[in-house]
Amino acid sequence: MAIRNIRELGDPCLRKVCKEVKNVSLRTKILIEDMLDTMYEANGVGLAAPQVGILKRIVVIDVGEGPIVLINPEITDREGTQFDYEGCLSVPGKSGKVSRPEKVVCRAFDEEMNEFEIEGEGLLARAICHELDHLDGVVYVDRVEGELIDNEQLMMEDDEDEEA
Ligand code: NI
Repeated sequence: MAIRNIRELGDPCLRKVCKEVKNVSLRTKILIEDMLDTMYEANGVGLAAPQVGILKRIVVIDVGEGPIVLINPEITDREGTQFDYEGCLSVPGKSGKVSRPEKVVCRAFDEEMNEFEIEGEGLLARAICHELDHLDGVVYVDRVEGELIDNEQLMMEDDEDEEA
């Protein structure tokens, strides 16, 4: 287990289309473990392989319900819309509002290359969409409506809401 260096916006790895995983080698298993460690260490809810410089179609997600590993994931169905703030470990300290589906169905493979389907709603749907975008070189800042803001500013807005 190891913490890997998270690439930040401007790094060419974040703009590449990642390659399909054909088989899960020991090397790939170690990568997945490292991605989980790196995500938890950074207090993120998701991480995609290109964010640690590996151009493979692998993402890890944990929205507080335990780790999810998605290999070669694809969204097969989407429903509704949610519009909320979103951030990315590759764009530290910033947030912006992005429109995403309220619900998604995602087909992927697990570490034994068994195909499975996962349904996500709310934050999980948002995380799935955000992480899958990374596999095609898309960063959420490309989809932000309005301005990117500093997280400190966002926390101040939250405080105002609570007082109101
Ligand atoms: Ni991200």
